[in-house]
Amino acid sequence: MHAKGQLEAEFAAIAEHWSPRVIATANGQYVKLAKVRGEFVWHSHADEDEFFLVQKGTFVLRFRDGSEVVLRAGEFFVVPRGVEHLPVAPEETWLLFVEPAATRHTGDVVTDRTRSVESQTAHLSGRADQG
Ligand code: NI
Repeated sequence: MHAKGQLEAEFAAIAEHWSPRVIATANGQYVKLAKVRGEFVWHSHADEDEFFLVQKGTFVLRFRDGSEVVLRAGEFFVVPRGVEHLPVAPEETWLLFVEPAATRHTGDVVTDRTRSVESQTAHLSGRADQG
């Protein structure tokens, strides 16, 4: 009931880049952490806004109109629903982000980078951590 979480410990449990780890659920939303590096894939989420907070590193969000947002530690941004974005991390970057439980990792795009909700929440149900 009153179990508290610890960000550093949660990040320490992440071994793979671009593989989100759900650390909490609230109001139908997942609070997730990820370690990222390099370029992800262009995608959008038709019905969900995406909140990102950078804990460490540099996170760049590129948009189809040629603009980009560069976020550094302590900075946050919301990608509005329906807006196509390409996440890029020029160095290893640690992210906290919030999205509805139903949000698919890579939007409507499925690639080898796509991680199922089951793999993102496996540790919550006491099963082996899949990273
Ligand atoms: Ni996204």
